[in-house]
Amino acid sequence: MDQQEKETKQSEATEQAGTAEQTATTAQGGSKEVVIKIEHLSKSFGDNEVLKDITLDLYKGENLVVLGKSGTGKSVTIKCVVGLLEQDKGSLKVFDQEVLDLSEQELKELRIRIGFLFQSGALYDSMTVRENLEFPLRRVLKIKDTEEMTKRVEEILEGVGLPDAIDKMPSELSGGMRKRIGLARTMILKPEIMLYDEPTTGLDPITSKEISELILSMQKNYGISSIIITHDIACAKIVANRVLVMSEGEVIAEGTFDELEGSDDELISSFFK
Ligand SMILES: Nc1ncnc2c1ncn2[C@@H]1O[C@H](COP(=O)(O)OP(=O)(O)OP(=O)(O)O)[C@@H](O)[C@H]1O
Ligand SMILES: [Mg+2]
Repeated sequence: MDQQEKETKQSEATEQAGTAEQTATTAQGGSKEVVIKIEHLSKSFGDNEVLKDITLDLYKGENLVVLGKSGTGKSVTIKCVVGLLEQDKGSLKVFDQEVLDLSEQELKELRIRIGFLFQSGALYDSMTVRENLEFPLRRVLKIKDTEEMTKRVEEILEGVGLPDAIDKMPSELSGGMRKRIGLARTMILKPEIMLYDEPTTGLDPITSKEISELILSMQKNYGISSIIITHDIACAKIVANRVLVMSEGEVIAEGTFDELEGSDDELISSFFK
């Protein structure tokens, strides 16, 4: 999808965020286009065999939640997707391109199409919100036109529900607001894929719910395909079209939230308690 199509889609989408399942029907429209394809991925750090055999598909327009115990390799998996880490074996394709085979320039171009919300989501404390948001526009997209930048900044702040924060310093914002601005800073590049690593960690339940609903509205309004790694079951319930459970470097279950929550397998259902 090119930029203009995306912008048209975005302005057409006027409905309130519903449930993830409703969104999936419209977003996927019955098609099963794969945007990330991971097959038999393995990765060790010295003697530490972290990923043993990971196989997963991310479909266009879906929210895929990944659950799993701490240290099981969730973050390592998505770091391989953006080429921050290299797998030892197996195949990892994004938009049909084998990530390991990409040149530095191709990897750079791919990364613009993928937004990565890190576990910390840090903002530059010495810059205003506006400057934080302009930074990736200047650095990554090489935009110099100030009007164009202001337009984009205002639009994305509207998108995350914080239009009045534009001239604030990060220190003046609450934790939840900072997360929103962190998300805005990633979203301002209009990625086609979003990778969220623990987007609600450290937030109170109400703010977590707001962030979860924001993830849902990003899917709905921008048609983004996302992987959401989380320990927050309430968040998973709100955002997930599909859930994967990882354990000791392997995918041990896949299904809808309701299917896995009701699983007879104690290990799997234990993640939902
Ligand atoms: N760059 C690295 N060098 C060496 N070991 C690493 C590196 N990155 C991750 N690991 C190891 O890989 C394992 C999996 O880490 P990972 O961060 O993927 O876990 P996780 O499933 O995301 O856990 P959490 O839920 O706590 O975030 C851990 O044992 C970790 O120490
Ligand atoms: Mg992690």
